[in-house]
Amino acid sequence: MTLRTVDWKDNSVIMIDQTKLPNKLVYVKFSDYKEVAKAIKNLVVRGAPAIGVTGAFGLALAALQSKAKTTNELIQDLETAKKILFETRPTAVNLSWGLEKIMRIAKQGQTVSEIQESVIHAAKQMADDDIKINMTMGKLGSELFKDNDTIMTHCNAGALATVAYGTALGVIRATKESGKKIKVIATETRPVQQGSRLTAFELKHDGIDVSLIPDTAVGYTMANRLVNKVIVGADRILRTGHVFNKIGTYQVATMAKRHGIPFYVAAPLSTFDLKSNPDDVIIEQRNAHEVTHIGDKKTAPDDINVINPAFDMTPPELITGIITEAGIAKPPFDESIKKLFEAKK
Ligand code: MRU
Repeated sequence: MTLRTVDWKDNSVIMIDQTKLPNKLVYVKFSDYKEVAKAIKNLVVRGAPAIGVTGAFGLALAALQSKAKTTNELIQDLETAKKILFETRPTAVNLSWGLEKIMRIAKQGQTVSEIQESVIHAAKQMADDDIKINMTMGKLGSELFKDNDTIMTHCNAGALATVAYGTALGVIRATKESGKKIKVIATETRPVQQGSRLTAFELKHDGIDVSLIPDTAVGYTMANRLVNKVIVGADRILRTGHVFNKIGTYQVATMAKRHGIPFYVAAPLSTFDLKSNPDDVIIEQRNAHEVTHIGDKKTAPDDINVINPAFDMTPPELITGIITEAGIAKPPFDESIKKLFEAKK
């Protein structure tokens, strides 16, 4: 079994502290939703599907923490918690998707205890569904990969970015499980190093052949035919097929196009935002320390100006296919994405 990133046990949320990886595999336990919000903000838990489920568990904690005597008071407390959890990270749509889903369920409850029970049940269900969806997506996506493929991935779209198994890395796992021999090239993914700290760690943990490259070697590896396919995850996908994902994804996709290398995205339907336009999406800007330091070591002059966007947008013309649990969308994406959602109804 792959790593389990986040879970609900004894009325608490348990998660791997991803800031400690790869040096220590440590689990942390929270029973206060404000601590969960801090954990999302500080990247103790990260990755779009993982923060969606963690947000839902945060609301479950808020329901248990509430001293409300009436259903109206409890819904008010949950609205407050939802706002605090929502404001942690703005780009991944899975967070608001998870929070809204739990709020809809809470509003159907007839008593305080019924709401508490239904919210906990729904959050746990969301976590279990996430694993099933990743496995379905993995199986579907594995058809696109062949024996002896070397697959590049950027950031971490693995078990650690979901509840377990992963989206992009789920496809890689399923390809390997289908008996094909594959190799993976993981980018380091500066500045937070989700590639070297997390992707390299979890693939090695599962015995998958992985080589690490600096982000600056993407062009070199492609030009020298050391990679023949790319797969990444996503934080938000628009109805037009514009993909928001970890900073640097756009560079990888542009380089893949230049070298005629297929570029795939794997994401559940909960990552789609069918309402927004590209300019509506807020790109999270993170603190300068991530760029001026590597860990605690300073690598830049004092008081240097820093631009540190956490995500970028890859336009649809650079994308070969988007793998979801409902099927694989191919260009033109506005039509194929619409069909995926119509089939779901
Ligand atoms: O800042 P992070 O680590 O939360 O960013 C994560 C990513 O960009 C992932 O690629 C994305 O969430 C897909 S996860 C299945």
